[in-house]
Amino acid sequence: MARILWGNELAGKLRDQMKREVDALKAENKRIPMLAVVLVGDDPASHSYVKGKAKACEQIGIAEQTYELPESTSQQDLIQLIQHLNADNCVDGILVQLPLPAHFNQDEVIQTIDPGKDVDGLTYINQGKFFNNQSCFIPCTPLGIMEILKEGNVDISGKSACVIGRSQLVGNPVAQLLMRANATVTMCHSRTQNLADVSRQADILIVAIGKARMIDASYVKDGAVVIDVGVNRVEGKLCGDVDFDAVEPRASIITPVPKGVGPMTITMLLANTLSSYESRENK
Ligand code: GUN
Repeated sequence: MARILWGNELAGKLRDQMKREVDALKAENKRIPMLAVVLVGDDPASHSYVKGKAKACEQIGIAEQTYELPESTSQQDLIQLIQHLNADNCVDGILVQLPLPAHFNQDEVIQTIDPGKDVDGLTYINQGKFFNNQSCFIPCTPLGIMEILKEGNVDISGKSACVIGRSQLVGNPVAQLLMRANATVTMCHSRTQNLADVSRQADILIVAIGKARMIDASYVKDGAVVIDVGVNRVEGKLCGDVDFDAVEPRASIITPVPKGVGPMTITMLLANTLSSYESRENK
């Protein structure tokens, strides 16, 4: 039987700590950290994620402003909004909820964000610094996963890790962080042959593929640590990319969905916003 690592519990602890930091700023009458979230269109999942982010900011006392724009917004208007947020000294973090509707040039939008406010770590400047081991914003989900592994006292150095999924938001950066922690990392994706044979070698298995309950026990080594990044809706219920009931008896540690990685992603967004605030205030 696996130990279940509840991301929401760890998130609660870290958020309490951050709330104390923000309370101290308030007590000293300092400026309050602020996150701007830009949401375009009416994708229900994106709306629900953005609501979660706003609620978390409120919880710890960070100011948050959500800019909800209609799907018909032009590329130029969206870019202008980001330039306006870049110039606003009260804004510490800017997050453009992805994916943007299909008619946008998503890359151009993201690259307009001031790298000093890019709390998602998606601008080329932050990505370049990240891959060169320099101080920068790192995407929130990979940071959250590393915090979960730390909380679980997972020994990473020298272990074999398999990352399934190669996105810029999760797969690529988490593989980099695991390598930095001295794991031997294998990247798998939709074209990987004999995926189960490959993933079954891993001591640490990170799954971010977006296919509901795809990973059953045949993909998992006995005693593996299994981190499920998937968020899928099946018949109105949230579930991960891992078939929890099938895999849990084989794993040593497993994260559930919901209440696993998701709350940690938002928590690291708060942490990145606070760290942006600190460095902007102390410039
Ligand atoms: N959509 C799903 N996850 C994320 C995230 O971490 N950041 C942004 N900007 N969009 C997302």
